Amino acid sequence: MLVFVPAETKTGEKRVGLTPEGAGKLIKLGLTVSIQDGAGLVSGYHNDEYKLAGAQIADSASAISSADVVATVRPLASEQISQLKSGALTISFLSPTNDSEAIKALADKKVTSLSFDVLPRISRAQSMDALTSQALCGGYRTVLIAAERAPKFFPMLMTAAGTIPPAKVLVLGAGVAGLQAMATAKRLGAVVSAYDVRASSADEVKSMGATFLNLGLDEVEGAGGYAREMTAERAKAQQDALKKFISESDVVITTAAVPGRKAPTLITSDMMSSMKPGAIIVDLAAESGGNVDGSVAGQDVEVKVPGGVVTIIGCKDLASQLAVHASKLYSQNVVSLLTLMTNEGVVTPDYSDEVVQGSAVVFKGEIKNAMARETLNLPALATGEGE
Ligand SMILES: NC(=O)c1ccc[n+]([C@@H]2O[C@H](COP(=O)([O-])OP(=O)(O)OC[C@H]3O[C@@H](n4cnc5c(N)ncnc54)[C@H](O)[C@@H]3O)[C@@H](O)[C@H]2O)c1
Repeated sequence: MLVFVPAETKTGEKRVGLTPEGAGKLIKLGLTVSIQDGAGLVSGYHNDEYKLAGAQIADSASAISSADVVATVRPLASEQISQLKSGALTISFLSPTNDSEAIKALADKKVTSLSFDVLPRISRAQSMDALTSQALCGGYRTVLIAAERAPKFFPMLMTAAGTIPPAKVLVLGAGVAGLQAMATAKRLGAVVSAYDVRASSADEVKSMGATFLNLGLDEVEGAGGYAREMTAERAKAQQDALKKFISESDVVITTAAVPGRKAPTLITSDMMSSMKPGAIIVDLAAESGGNVDGSVAGQDVEVKVPGGVVTIIGCKDLASQLAVHASKLYSQNVVSLLTLMTNEGVVTPDYSDEVVQGSAVVFKGEIKNAMARETLNLPALATGEGE
């Protein structure tokens, strides 16, 4: 069976769906792998490396029409979907709520589309968890961006010219990205503290060498270890309690998310007004609505405070900025998912498998994911299916 990896079509996307190492692993499973000419170049992987791994180089993007499996990072573009053969399998990120057009087109083409956005986060599927691998890259990048932009050192320095105190970094949201941000800031020598609405994250925060801020508020944990949406009163109480810590910070990194919802507002304009001039806020959630009042994805916004400005950096395409390693990790996620479904060189997604069922936004032409169906105003499926 033929696995095809087209070049990513979204402007600015530097990752690739499969690296030469990943191609070699799929070939060992008995699959044939074809890469669109130059698809890996932008992430640092050359045609020659793919050839060495045993992959073919396809001169044209139209090779997609003969593929049994298509692996990309971003959802396929409409012209790519229109060329898919019926019964093909696509693997990518595909948001059940934001990619409705693509989902409809994929269903019309009678294909199966597995999405890493909804892959079950069970232990068996850890090696397939691209949300985790890419959040790791994002969390790391936030700190480097902050360190580059802050007008201060991160580590404490004792020099003949005086002592420099360490920077104070506050991380809000202690999921995968937040924990990686804490670890990175700690490695750079900052004093790190963190807060999350899930009390269960306190031990993980401590294991990163950071201090968990106990605000004395109710925890807001929902199903599957994720946060729930907060009431307006709970959100206000959190903002009031965090204001003091934010005003003391040199860098604040916000990473909070609630599945299927707009990112919660953690920092209001009022809270920013008490921050130190020169302080930096890096909003990792800027692309999903923002954790900070006024943040814009892909842009810097300066907010006037007494004595200067605070800069809000709205993150965009963070994992793509680390394209070599983000692609390497993503590629392994693709290989692990395909390994689960491949037997003697034949890929057969088994819908009775929890991992396949959970990640199938579309299965054999039917839109299965409950959120995708709701967004498209389709009736719910039989109990339990697609949830
Ligand atoms: N394979 C696995 O078992 C696996 C893999 C990865 C993550 N997880 C778990 O999944 C969960 C979600 O991780 P994620 O990184 O995808 O999270 P996420 O991206 O959905 O959210 C990031 C963090 O924001 C926090 N948050 C939400 N609202 C907040 C608010 N108002 N204030 C402060 N913090 C807020 C969440 O609790 C979460 O920790 C965690 O419990 C994590 O340990 C499990």
